[in-house]
Amino acid sequence: ADLSLADEVKARLRDVQDFPRPGIVFKDITPLLADPVLFGRVINAMAAPFRGQHITKVIGVEARGFILGAPVALALNAGFVPARKPGKLPHRTVVERYSLEYGSDGLELHQDAILKGERAIIVDDVLATGGTAEATAKLTSQLGGELVGFSFLMVLGFLDGAKRLGADRVRSVITL
Ligand code: PRP
Ligand code: MG
Repeated sequence: ADLSLADEVKARLRDVQDFPRPGIVFKDITPLLADPVLFGRVINAMAAPFRGQHITKVIGVEARGFILGAPVALALNAGFVPARKPGKLPHRTVVERYSLEYGSDGLELHQDAILKGERAIIVDDVLATGGTAEATAKLTSQLGGELVGFSFLMVLGFLDGAKRLGADRVRSVITL
């Protein structure tokens, strides 16, 4: 896509060694978020592939997907839906468990968050293994939503995670 935007985003990610565990290089997006011009361009780029596609709901995944998902929703004139860690949503929910490298986790949506046939996208900061996004996609399907695609800020090692989700539906500002 926009090469200069990709380069600016890469320059504004902070690599933090050994976080949250030894051997992991954490991609810290807070320098990017602190720059209102770059933040705005990133939101516009994340929304762009889905403009004119009649998206009515944008699902943001707790926690970093909230930061990007809410402004993407506004950019698309769509509603925002939080996908939350278990036990956080107050109303009736649907739940999906998924496995992590060590152990498992889960995500929930409110049962009435997406209506049957509604066109939705899923937004998150990072696509790695795809476990988080896949669980969110399953929740969307459970509610009868039509999942149009995924918009990530960054995709790590494009093929694995994207293949799991269906590569043609996966969009991102940068690939690392
Ligand atoms: C990170 C990241 C994505 C997910 C990607 O979230 O923000 O949501 O992992 O990994 P995957 O593709 O292998 O599932 P994390 O669980 O660290 O939580 P946070 O967003 O609350 O910081
Ligand atoms: Mg996350």
